[in-house]
Amino acid sequence: MPHTVHMTMGQQEGRRSWAEPWKIKMVEPIRMISREERAAALAAGGYNTFLLRSEDVYIDLLTDSGTSAMSDRQWAGLMLGDEAYAGSRNFYHLEEAVQSYYGYKHLIPTHQGRGAEHLISQALIRPGTYIPGNMYFTTTRLHQELAGGTFVDVIIDEAHDPASQHPFKGNVDLDKLQALIDKVGADNIPYVSLAGTVNMAGGQPVSMANVKALRQLCDRYGIPIYLDATRMAENVYFIQEREEGYQHTPIAAILREFCDYTDGAWMSSKKDHLVNIGGWLAVNDPLVAEKARNMVVVYEGLHTYGGMAGRDMEALAIGIGESLQDDHMRARVGQVRYLGQLLMDWGIPIVQPVGGHAIFLDAKKIYEHLPQDLFPAQTLAAAIYLDSGVRTMERGIVSAGRDPETGDHRHPKLELVRVTIPRRVYTQAHMDVVAESIKAVYDERKSAMGLKMVYEPAYLRFFQARFEPIG
Ligand code: F0G
Repeated sequence: MPHTVHMTMGQQEGRRSWAEPWKIKMVEPIRMISREERAAALAAGGYNTFLLRSEDVYIDLLTDSGTSAMSDRQWAGLMLGDEAYAGSRNFYHLEEAVQSYYGYKHLIPTHQGRGAEHLISQALIRPGTYIPGNMYFTTTRLHQELAGGTFVDVIIDEAHDPASQHPFKGNVDLDKLQALIDKVGADNIPYVSLAGTVNMAGGQPVSMANVKALRQLCDRYGIPIYLDATRMAENVYFIQEREEGYQHTPIAAILREFCDYTDGAWMSSKKDHLVNIGGWLAVNDPLVAEKARNMVVVYEGLHTYGGMAGRDMEALAIGIGESLQDDHMRARVGQVRYLGQLLMDWGIPIVQPVGGHAIFLDAKKIYEHLPQDLFPAQTLAAAIYLDSGVRTMERGIVSAGRDPETGDHRHPKLELVRVTIPRRVYTQAHMDVVAESIKAVYDERKSAMGLKMVYEPAYLRFFQARFEPIG
């Protein structure tokens, strides 16, 4: 499909096209191996895209986590690493960046997001309590369960419907939350687990009105709100675009307002912050900070590095500022939308509206003939890799895991393949190649037979499970 057939968003609106606010200084060669080699790689990797070697991948859209391109300033920052064990200069720079952009008082660095999830879950959750949240995320829920809690989904119903055009499908349904409070009592809810641009729902945002109303409800019962800020930069971009009164507010200012409605946040800096590793927990309550600081030295590293090298903290501190520039975010979300528009033009079912970090293919709809127990999304991700060497990931029944009580598969309503776009890494031409491959696999959809799981790990099974083709 030639480039010219597709109009960019700008052209559709009668404006000139936009382009990325950067140019490329260094390149990393990539290549596509033959179809025979891809078939062999897929079989060796148990039909799980997490088990492929990256050198066998052509365009890697497995995740936007730790895969972004750093800027020249961030690379320069690496040279300023202060590798002191204690009190590194780079820690104070990072602390200042988090305090000024996010507004929280106390910073505890961690090696990545799940390190922070571990700390906050252990610090706040008593066994037997309930943690309401706007849809589960794999590692977040697991840490809540390991601390003895039970996650309860309180996201609005629209989030579970790939076709719903609701502009804020990440919103909390306050009636569902109220019903949980009435049922188990506020004392048994240690906090609300609120996520920006909900990953498993398709990168869907939470509105400012929703977090404000959530704060009011929680204040009535003394329940704190902790935020998964991993992709909040994308969330605030959507607020600027869609919510009345924010069109002329810089995204950095919208972020501060949003965070002010919450008590703290955990962060996987491997996403928004344009670094390859890093994360943190930041809270306002000094007692929670103290608990987390007591634990960070056991599980991560000293409280002034938390598993990161000094140079990593410097690149991260710089990345925070870059991630909250309006131009950057416009190009980031614009590229995701460009790919989404190509697929929609061809009638390929995806989660709508297009979210912040990825396109989510509706595998349930694409492989209508495959029951969920034959792993339609896993099958689709494998088929796309076989077609073109493009790597994507399953976000359906495999990711959802098993119910700890019954041991049965959880059957999520959404059975998706995530086509995730790293930041500042691929061009529009790469997006065209990806779209054409998805189209080719879509055209062959009737011949898909599904997979059977032949190895299942105990935790986060999607990372390491192995499959074999049926038939
Ligand atoms: N929260 C969200 C919303 C995430 O997407 C992730 C990671 C984490 C927490 C955990 O952070 O990986 O730094 O330990 N998501 C990755 C992904 C794995 O591909 O979406 P981490």
